[in-house]
Amino acid sequence: MKLNHLALFFSLVVFLTISVVSHAGVTSSYVRVAEPSEEMALEVFPPPSGYNAPEQVHITQGDHNGRAMIISWVTPVNDDGSNIVNYWVAGTNETTKLSVEASTTSYRYFDYTSGFLHHATIKGLEYDTKYFYELGSGRSTRQFNFMTPPKVGPDVPYTFGIIGDLGQTYASNQTLANYMSNPKGQAVLMVGDLSYADDHPNHDQRKWDSYGRFVEPSAAYQPWIWAAGNHEIDYDANIGETQAFKPYMNRYNVPYKASQSTSPLWYSIKRASAYIIVLSSYSAFDKYTPQNSWLESELKKVNREETPWLFVLVHAPWYNSNNYHYMEGESMRVTFEPWCVENKVDIVFAGHVHAYERSERVSNIKYNITDGLSYPVKNPSAPIYITIGDGGNIEGIANDFTYPQPSYSAYREASFGHAMLEIKNRTHALYTWHRNQDNEPVVADSLWVKNRHFLPEEDEAVSV
Ligand SMILES: *[C@@H]1O[C@H](CO)[C@@H](O)[C@H](O)[C@H]1NC(C)=O
Ligand SMILES: *[C@@H]1O[C@H](CO)[C@@H](O)[C@H](O)[C@H]1NC(C)=O
Ligand SMILES: *[C@@H]1O[C@H](CO)[C@@H](O)[C@H](O)[C@H]1NC(C)=O
Ligand SMILES: *[C@@H]1O[C@H](CO)[C@@H](O)[C@H](O)[C@H]1NC(C)=O
Ligand SMILES: [Fe+2]
Repeated sequence: MKLNHLALFFSLVVFLTISVVSHAGVTSSYVRVAEPSEEMALEVFPPPSGYNAPEQVHITQGDHNGRAMIISWVTPVNDDGSNIVNYWVAGTNETTKLSVEASTTSYRYFDYTSGFLHHATIKGLEYDTKYFYELGSGRSTRQFNFMTPPKVGPDVPYTFGIIGDLGQTYASNQTLANYMSNPKGQAVLMVGDLSYADDHPNHDQRKWDSYGRFVEPSAAYQPWIWAAGNHEIDYDANIGETQAFKPYMNRYNVPYKASQSTSPLWYSIKRASAYIIVLSSYSAFDKYTPQNSWLESELKKVNREETPWLFVLVHAPWYNSNNYHYMEGESMRVTFEPWCVENKVDIVFAGHVHAYERSERVSNIKYNITDGLSYPVKNPSAPIYITIGDGGNIEGIANDFTYPQPSYSAYREASFGHAMLEIKNRTHALYTWHRNQDNEPVVADSLWVKNRHFLPEEDEAVSV
């Protein structure tokens, strides 16, 4: 049984290797176990014990270069000290503890009132250093830790996990467990659609709390870089909730001001050898809008000699050969694709479609106005487009690809999973996709990604 599986796996790998080299797109015929995308009950995630214990702890980069961290947590009441984070360098005398005070908010949504949402930014951290931090007081004190990234530079290895459309089902739990079982992941790029609270009556906000508890085992220990999806909008005029993104923006803080952005929905960070630009599919992006102007000046700031790797995170994919959400990202693609090609973006990561897909390096910029049709063409300056909306949320898998498989689509599969991107140096990054049904070490799709600035050659299949 085991051997058969192994043989199947290796023949699949060989098959994929051949097909990537020959540039025929692959629609995986992998037969997955029919998996219930059933949501884990609220009771699965009780609050931590102890009076006013801090919960839903999550961290994200707090400045542009990686020397600050935003620590976020929730407490039921706003007692003395519940808004304080104490922190110190691992291995140092604990009397060197420093502390920072959080800014605290709470919000109402229909019939729900949130707990106290604390966000504290720790600044002036040393690079490449382990820190401990402590929240709460007395018997409710909880301790966590994180590693700061190495100093920004061109040959700094760094590994990102990539997760999208996670939700909080048993499948989501498998995705997170698989990612966490991989010791290589140092930070997560999360391409939007977090809790799926809005799939419940009146956008049941308790689902935002349970989501915060669900991801805490990872998100309290390494930064998750958040992008907003459609499930973050939480707009519902029928119940009088007309402030878009209210729960998301109250709960998840990002360092948008550090990149001169005017909105938490789009921003950038540098981390190790990567420059990461986060965009918002659900905010205005046409010419003259704030997001458009910001991106135009932002791209000019990227110095590939300092950060060779340039990634874009966005929720709705610009290349998608699935009937689900087909062409929803089209107007943003038309607006921003020319800039991404001109600036040689390495990879655009998106979610939204609950399946996995990786594109060839293609562009579709020039129209022939005689026939009005426009087909993507191979373009070595173009990004790879990866759709990784397969985190496993309550809405289930998007198992309805278009046929024939378009030539821009290199590999696609309707399975839940997550990806890893191991940056090795300024020229090479190893990209792998891991489907949930297999153990983490099994790689279902992979590629040696070559840097568009330093080595704009054809990406290479991974040989086993
Ligand atoms: C930590 O430093 C303080 C003050 O210098 C000293 O009194 C204490 O003994 C030290 N503790 C340890 C565990 O080294
Ligand atoms: C979630 O996954 C973890 C790790 O595999 C497991 O221990 C836990 O029981 C799972 N939770 C649920 C509710 O299935
Ligand atoms: C545009 O399309 C028309 C009709 O297919 C074709 O005759 C013409 O050569 C095309 N022009 C270019 C520049 O490709
Ligand atoms: C960069 O990493 C790749 C993959 O590990 C390796 O083959 C290559 O030699 C490295 N380049 C340099 C200059 O070390
Ligand atoms: Fe979505």
